[in-house]
Amino acid sequence: MKLDIAVLSGDGIGPEVTNQAIKALEAIAHSFDHTFLFKEALVGAIAIDKTGDPLPEETLQLCANTDAVLFGAIGDPKYDNNPNAKVRPEQGLLKLRKELGLYANIRPVKAYTTLIDKSPLKREIIEGTDISIYRELTGGIYFGKKEINDEGTVASDLCEYSKQEIERIAHLAFRAAQKRRKKLTLVDKANVLETSRLWRKVVTEIAKEYKDVSLDFLFVDNAAMQMILNPSQFDVLLTENMFGDIISDEASVIGGSIGLLASASVGNSCCMFEPIHGSYPQATGKGIANPIAAILSAAMLLEHFDLVGEATAIRDAVEKSLELHITTPDLNTNQPLSTEKVGDFIADYILNPEDSNMNFENIHMGQSTII
Ligand code: IPM
Ligand code: MG
Repeated sequence: MKLDIAVLSGDGIGPEVTNQAIKALEAIAHSFDHTFLFKEALVGAIAIDKTGDPLPEETLQLCANTDAVLFGAIGDPKYDNNPNAKVRPEQGLLKLRKELGLYANIRPVKAYTTLIDKSPLKREIIEGTDISIYRELTGGIYFGKKEINDEGTVASDLCEYSKQEIERIAHLAFRAAQKRRKKLTLVDKANVLETSRLWRKVVTEIAKEYKDVSLDFLFVDNAAMQMILNPSQFDVLLTENMFGDIISDEASVIGGSIGLLASASVGNSCCMFEPIHGSYPQATGKGIANPIAAILSAAMLLEHFDLVGEATAIRDAVEKSLELHITTPDLNTNQPLSTEKVGDFIADYILNPEDSNMNFENIHMGQSTII
């Protein structure tokens, strides 16, 4: 298969982790005889610095005319700490999602057996957790009308949803549940919000088309509690934009590191793949950022194009790195490896899964044939 991939690595650790995802994809292209062409473009704070715009037109055009977008991270403290900044890096990401029509953001959350003790949650609570979060991505309070009065003393953000916006992601979530454990939980705040009541009504109606999937509802405050009390009860979670943003960061605690969580954003014609973590500016250039979320996002890209064996090859390599503790300091305090080395290991494992000389000691002593 030939795929044109736009690479928007962005700010902070974005470029370092995205480079590792590219390495993994290049290894896949080599092993499975595909051609992946990467084209880089600017987004975020670096784009503001260079062009004044967090999403230059050239970047948008490239993304709209490519098969897939690989996204790194955006954000810079100089904007976070300045509430008066008129242009912000995040606007680039939000505009990109909106313009490309990426209405569904899929965030898988899994408790890896080898990492269970890294999570601050108890083993017996997180064991067996395997959740797929379907977060609506182009509507709700993120995109509603924003206002502030002339005195700067009263502000508002409108939260609005239409039936059609709810329906299209609900269908995707139900179809995903059919392929999984056939359970869908709608997370909302229907005891307070009109938009949530619309979500319940629309989703209940759609459920009639998916009789094999059981549907239940959970208020978002309770869902936040259940996520750390009993996460293995969840299969597919469906929710609106902001609840999904919050719940998915909370869910990342289950895996032991936010550096593990990948995501896919899909629409009718475009698709984008990005780690859920931010730009982690304090870590920039130190080689300590975990590249696994970015690499697993590349696996989601492959899966999106039905390259299932290829996606599995990436996931197997990631699991091997976790098993052998070939990991960055967030997961490995004793003998951590750098972002680059973890990426090298994963790419090399994809190319040579049979290498028997690969064990923790050899790799750490630099004696493996692999690194
Ligand atoms: C995410 C991020 C973004 C969001 C920010 C960077 C705008 O937190 O992808 O979860 O809130 O959607
Ligand atoms: Mg977020």
